[in-house]
Amino acid sequence: MAKDKTLFVCSECGGTSPKWLGKCPSCGAWNTLVEQVAGAGAGGAANNRFGTQFASLAGASELSTLSEIEATDVARTPTGLDELDRVLGGGIVSGGVTLIGGDPGIGKSTLLLQAVDALQRAGQNALYVTGEESGSQVALRSKRLGLDHSQVQVLAEIQLEKIIATLDATRPAIAVIDSIQTVYSDQLTSAPGSVAQVRECAAHLTRFAKTSGTAVVLVGHVTKEGALAGPRVLEHMVDTVLYFEGDTHSSFRLVRAIKNRFGAVNEIGVFAMTERGLKGVTNPSAIFLSQHAEPVPGSVVLVTLEGTRPMLVEIQALVDNGGPSPRRLSVGLDRDRLAMLLAVLHRHAGVACMDQDVFVNAVGGVRISEPAADLAVMLAITSSLRGKPLPKGFIAFGEVGLAGEVRPAPRGQERLREAAKLGFSVAVVPKANAPRKGAKEIEGLTIHAVDRIEEAMDVVRRLD
Ligand SMILES: Nc1ncnc2c1ncn2[C@@H]1O[C@H](COP(=O)(O)OP(=O)(O)O)[C@@H](O)[C@H]1O
Ligand SMILES: [Mg+2]
Repeated sequence: MAKDKTLFVCSECGGTSPKWLGKCPSCGAWNTLVEQVAGAGAGGAANNRFGTQFASLAGASELSTLSEIEATDVARTPTGLDELDRVLGGGIVSGGVTLIGGDPGIGKSTLLLQAVDALQRAGQNALYVTGEESGSQVALRSKRLGLDHSQVQVLAEIQLEKIIATLDATRPAIAVIDSIQTVYSDQLTSAPGSVAQVRECAAHLTRFAKTSGTAVVLVGHVTKEGALAGPRVLEHMVDTVLYFEGDTHSSFRLVRAIKNRFGAVNEIGVFAMTERGLKGVTNPSAIFLSQHAEPVPGSVVLVTLEGTRPMLVEIQALVDNGGPSPRRLSVGLDRDRLAMLLAVLHRHAGVACMDQDVFVNAVGGVRISEPAADLAVMLAITSSLRGKPLPKGFIAFGEVGLAGEVRPAPRGQERLREAAKLGFSVAVVPKANAPRKGAKEIEGLTIHAVDRIEEAMDVVRRLD
């Protein structure tokens, strides 16, 4: 297709322009024009070259009822890395497309190289396409990781057409594209890494995966906030989206499924970065606890539930005199939720932080999205404000509503048992999560069940 057929389409209103403009001529939005390849007879933005190529053959398609269609479960091939298989929902799926996002240096290339090597050793043909590093750099990494005599095929190439041709000729069981930002298609004039290129190349590779049965893994540099425009647009295209999380300063890494057409999305994989690559952590419940010799103000241990496993994470808060416009900052927790919790604290528990800076942090670079963190966050804030630590061995969890009520967290008993197992001795939890009267107690754990936030504050004050 000739380059003069390219068209720029506004991602807001769908308006078009023959050349790139900063401002959409139709709706006036800025920086929304994205290059598209328009085939002959293209009907606008929605038509890519696949949609239009067969337009003349279009006729009504045959319909079938759901019951007529054979329901087959997808076949999965385990990668051999248990923690990765856990997030994938059992393993890689033939023809499935997975996007792995994460900050540079977090371990995407390392993990995928380990995974394809394990697959190759299990008899699955694997192809590693490297656009960021040279073949010898990849070989150096594989040496460092101890993957001796690896039979994984490596292709150092960034031109999409050549990559597809190689894939087509070799038909591997799994192909890794590291990274999608480096790949470019001749069909587009935009620079590699631009939204248009990334989207076009990913669409091609996805189509290849679906027609050939090769499982394709796309590596994308992006933070979860989507700071980098690019792979975020891919999330709709692919079957599975995984994000790497974790503090690059600590050795622990989480791989979280954000979207999965072939499995659950709440599962996470936990790894430790070692000299010889990423090692799965099968029992991750205690890795996000920092070790204080003595309890310190502003620190509360939260029992959170990630997928099927309870994990203990230290929540830290610092409340300090602020200026005329005090700051509210959170790392690993939702900032809007923090603002809400501060309002609830003030209204229902009489704890005022209006003129204070409030910082909260989930230790270890972990991101916590479940509302069951509320109670721990509020107790940490109050503890910092009062300058009084919570007792040794203290844990908390529970959602707090706008009316000040403390709501139960899913699978509370499991959380409590995990905490007891790790030697925690005092818990403040929602009433519905505490063992019922007469039920078996959890050994070693004194449980204070609360219904409201002010009750929780009273309990903590009595514990001083
Ligand atoms: N030569 C090396 N020796 C030891 N560790 C290394 C070496 N090269 C890379 N690493 C570690 O591996 C980490 C992950 O690198 P990599 O897998 O390339 O990340 P990504 O592909 O996500 O950018 C790096 O942050 C670094 O800690
Ligand atoms: Mg890399």
